[in-house]
Amino acid sequence: MPQTLGDGVRLLRAFVTNPRQVGAVLPTSRTAVRAMLDLADVPAAGLVVELGAGTGVATREILARLGAGARLVALEIDPQLARRLSERLDDPRLQVVCGSAEDLDGLLDGERADVVVSMLPFTSLEAGLRRRLLDQLPRALRPGGTAVVIQYSPLVLGELRRRFADVRTRVTPWNVPPAFLFACTGARDRSGGDEPPAPRRSHRA
Ligand SMILES: C[S@@+](CC[C@H](N)C(=O)[O-])C[C@H]1O[C@@H](n2cnc3c(N)ncnc32)[C@H](O)[C@@H]1O
Repeated sequence: MPQTLGDGVRLLRAFVTNPRQVGAVLPTSRTAVRAMLDLADVPAAGLVVELGAGTGVATREILARLGAGARLVALEIDPQLARRLSERLDDPRLQVVCGSAEDLDGLLDGERADVVVSMLPFTSLEAGLRRRLLDQLPRALRPGGTAVVIQYSPLVLGELRRRFADVRTRVTPWNVPPAFLFACTGARDRSGGDEPPAPRRSHRA
């Protein structure tokens, strides 16, 4: 089976098993991935972390841009997708980890990334899990680092702005569906997981 068709079938199978966790029926296009990675300085990075590597479309492009002595840690929660990825991509700079991005803090063991690339389907996830995953983005970055995020809607923008001082947004039509790209810098020194306070009601005696 040709690689792209095989990837499509694998992602569709994972989607049927766990639709909210996968959040997409088609792999991200290479054009969208390239536009996303153009928003961060991957070639200068010492450590890049990818969250939700899936079929590896972004993993391959990150490796193509990454320096010889640098490292890429790619997290994928689905065991079959993770196994397939580590079998197919034989690169000494790559470490595929089968686990949840919720545990990123512990997995990095005190290390911090220059670039975090998130392919996670934030908007289809349950709200508490989404907030815990979003909290990992600023925590995983070195000062001056960049998190790049791809989504199929702009709904996550407010939550990103609570966690980063600067969020640039792009839209790429070269994906099915068209994708929103976010480049986040200036990680705020807080967990950022809380929602804005509810408006106060005035009570009259
Ligand atoms: C929208 S798909 C992205 C797939 C990739 N862009 C591709 O085209 O193959 C989201 C991926 O995130 C993974 N994922 C979801 N929740 C995760 C979590 N908590 N930790 C790590 N990976 C997760 C899913 O299994 C899925 O592979």
